[in-house]
Amino acid sequence: MKFFLDTADVQELRLGAASGLIDGVTTNPSIMAKTGRPLKEVVQDIVKIVNGPISVETLSEDAEGMVREGKEYAAMHPNIVVKAPLTPEGLKATKALSGEGIKVNVTLCFSAVQALLAAKAGATYISPFIGRVDDVGLDGMQLIRDIAQIYKQYDFKTQILAASIRHPVHVLQSALAGAHVGTLPFKVFQQLYSHPLTTIGLEKFMADWKAAKK
Ligand code: G3P
Repeated sequence: MKFFLDTADVQELRLGAASGLIDGVTTNPSIMAKTGRPLKEVVQDIVKIVNGPISVETLSEDAEGMVREGKEYAAMHPNIVVKAPLTPEGLKATKALSGEGIKVNVTLCFSAVQALLAAKAGATYISPFIGRVDDVGLDGMQLIRDIAQIYKQYDFKTQILAASIRHPVHVLQSALAGAHVGTLPFKVFQQLYSHPLTTIGLEKFMADWKAAKK
């Protein structure tokens, strides 16, 4: 399973990259807006920090505009993946961009049939938002399982990118369900390392070692 960081915060990305365990980055307009900086400037920073797929979302409402923006993004760096919304216009843009060899991450996926449409449009990644599905009282993880089954059945190459991850159990369940990628808020990535028995065990090892050396 690949780990992407779901952030445009340069400090978080530097720390994540230093771990050696981060394979890529996803952003969205909310994440970009939080930086308070011009989008293209932020993208230029990110590509220097993380060597892997970097999703950058289009802002146009029509397919023509999304294709134009997508081409601009793709021209900035070979690692850029264009993020397009799961709308009729977004999927038209997905088909056009993927037809030209540009990778597309289709975002805002909340149902397995939407994911089926995205795969048919040639998406490289589909982003089901599991936390937001849970938020409305449904089962986000079932969405991942359903998409995995459909893609396997028809041998679609579109990769499942579990998004809107809120806690380590989402990561565990996404991995069990066969998601190819999990995009994690930095805090969740840090939480993955933690286990109280690791902390207690290490403290005891060190204490025993120091006591024996006296
Ligand atoms: O990549 C999509 C993700 O950032 C959405 O997460 O927590 O805003 O639902 P959240």
